[in-house]
Amino acid sequence: MDTQIWMTGFLLGLIPLLKWVLRSFNHWWYCYPHFKSNTGGQLPPGDMGWPIVGELLSFLWYFKFTGKPDDFIWKRFAKYGNTGIYRTHMFSFPAIITCSPEFNKFVMGRGTEDGSFVAGWPCPKLLGEQSITMVEGEQHKRMRRSLLEAVNSPKSLQNIFIKLQPVFKETFENWAVKGEIHTADELKSLAFGNICSLFLSFERSPMVESMEKMYRGLLSGLRAHPINIPGSAFHFALKCRRRLSAIVCSEIHSRKVNKENMMADFLSNLMDLVDFNGKKLNEEEIVDNLTSMLLAGYESTASSMIWAIYYLSKYPNVLSKLKEENFTIKKEKGEDKFLNYNDVKKMTYTLKVVDEVIRLANVANFMFRTVSKDTKFKGYKFPKGWKVIVWLRSLHVDPQYFKDPLTFNPDRWDEFNLSSGVYNVFGHGSRQCPGNNLAKMQLLIFLHQICVDYKWHLVNPNEATKFLPNPRLANGAKIIFSHV
Ligand code: HEM
Repeated sequence: MDTQIWMTGFLLGLIPLLKWVLRSFNHWWYCYPHFKSNTGGQLPPGDMGWPIVGELLSFLWYFKFTGKPDDFIWKRFAKYGNTGIYRTHMFSFPAIITCSPEFNKFVMGRGTEDGSFVAGWPCPKLLGEQSITMVEGEQHKRMRRSLLEAVNSPKSLQNIFIKLQPVFKETFENWAVKGEIHTADELKSLAFGNICSLFLSFERSPMVESMEKMYRGLLSGLRAHPINIPGSAFHFALKCRRRLSAIVCSEIHSRKVNKENMMADFLSNLMDLVDFNGKKLNEEEIVDNLTSMLLAGYESTASSMIWAIYYLSKYPNVLSKLKEENFTIKKEKGEDKFLNYNDVKKMTYTLKVVDEVIRLANVANFMFRTVSKDTKFKGYKFPKGWKVIVWLRSLHVDPQYFKDPLTFNPDRWDEFNLSSGVYNVFGHGSRQCPGNNLAKMQLLIFLHQICVDYKWHLVNPNEATKFLPNPRLANGAKIIFSHV
C-alpha cells in the first residue's frame, strides 16, 4: 500500500517536471548559446514553445479557431510589454517577430540592404534560381531595376488601362446576366486572365485556364513541406513549374524567331531590356522572373478586389461617395470613353478607397527573412540562422495608429502620414513589392467600372473570415449582381 501511494505521488510529481523539461527544451536549445555569447545584444523577450512545434499551436489557435489573429500579438504586448520585438519558435524555426514601425523598417530596409537579412523562404526549385525573390545583393538590384522598368514605365501603365477596361466591362455585363456570382472564383480567374494578358498577351483560352490550374498547384507547393514524393503537393508543384516554364520558353522562342510576334507587353519589355552594364537578360532570368511575377501578382490582386466588393457592400456611405466621384469623371469624359493613366489624379477618393481596402484586407499577413549574420539593433540580437517574421498586419489594425482600425473608412487617409513606417502593405525598402502600381491601377479601374453602372448585395452579409494562408471570406463572398 505504502509503495502504491509512493508510486502515485512520484508519478504525479513527474508530470509537472516533465512539462517543465519540455517547456524549457527549446529555450535552452536555441537561446542558451546566446545568453552565454558576448557578441552583444540581448534576445528579445518571448516564448519558444514546445519542442518541434514551438508556438505553432498557439498561432493556429488565434488564426484558425478564435478568428482573432491579432490577439496573438496583443497577448505578447500584454505579457512582455510593447517592445515591438519578440522571440518565438514557429514553422520549424527559431524566429524573431518584429511588429513596430522602427523594427519593421530596420529589417525590411537597412538590414535587408546590407545583407544581414536575406530572402526568408527560399525555394529555388519552384521559383527559379534567378527569380527576384531568390537573388541577393547586386544581382537583386539588377533584377529589380529591370522589373520596375518593365512594369512601371509610362507605356506599361498606360497599357494596363487600354487592355483591362474592355475586359472588366465585358465581365460585369456577363455577371449582370448571370445574377448570382461567386466573387472569389470569378475574380481569381479574371485577375489571372488580366495578368496573362498584360505579361504575355495571352487572351482567355483553354491554355490560360490550364495555366491558372498550374499556378494554383505551384502556390500549394510553396505552402507545403518540400517533400518530393509522388502524390505530395511539392511534387505536383514541381511538375506545374516545369510545364509553365515550357510555355514561357516557347513564347520567347517564337518572339525571337519572328519579330512580328513581339507585343506591347511585359515579356517583350523584358526581352528588349538592356541593363546598366549594357547586358540583356538571359532566357533563364526572363522565365524565372516572369513566372514569379505572375505568381506574386495574381492571387494578391484578386483577393483585394474580393475584399473591395465586400467592404463596399457593408459601407453604403463609402460606396455612394465612390459613385459620386466616378460618375463625375465618367460624365466629363463622355459616356463611352474609357479612363486613361492621366485620369488617375482626378480619382482622389477612389485612391483612398484602394489604400483602405489594402490596409484592412491585409492580403500579406507577414513576410519572412533569414538572418545571415549575427545582427544587433536597439540592444536586441537577431541570431544568425534564425528567421525574422515581419508581422505586417498588426500595425495596420493598431488603434494607436489607426482610429477605429477595424472600420472601413477611406477618409482616414486625409490625415495619415504615409512616411511614418506604419503602412507597409507592400513591404518596404529594397524588396518592396515591384507590382504595387500595377495592383493599385487594376483596383482603380475595377472600382471605376463596377460602381458606376452596377449594383450588388452580399448573399450572406455575416460570412465568416478565414485568415490562413491569407485573409479570405470563408465561402467566397457570393453576391447578387445587376445593372443599376
Ligand atoms: C494588393 C496586391 C499586392 C500586395 C498586398 C503585395 C504585397 C507584397 C509584399 C508585402 C511584398 C514584400 C515581400 C518581402 O519584402 O519579402 C511583395 C513583394 C513582391 N511582389 Fe507584391 N503585392 C501585391 C501585388 C503584386 C503584383 C501585382 C505583382 C506583380 C505583378 C507583385 C510582385 C511581387 C514580387 C515579384 C515581389 C518580390 C520582390 C523582391 O523580393 O524583391 N506583387 N509584395
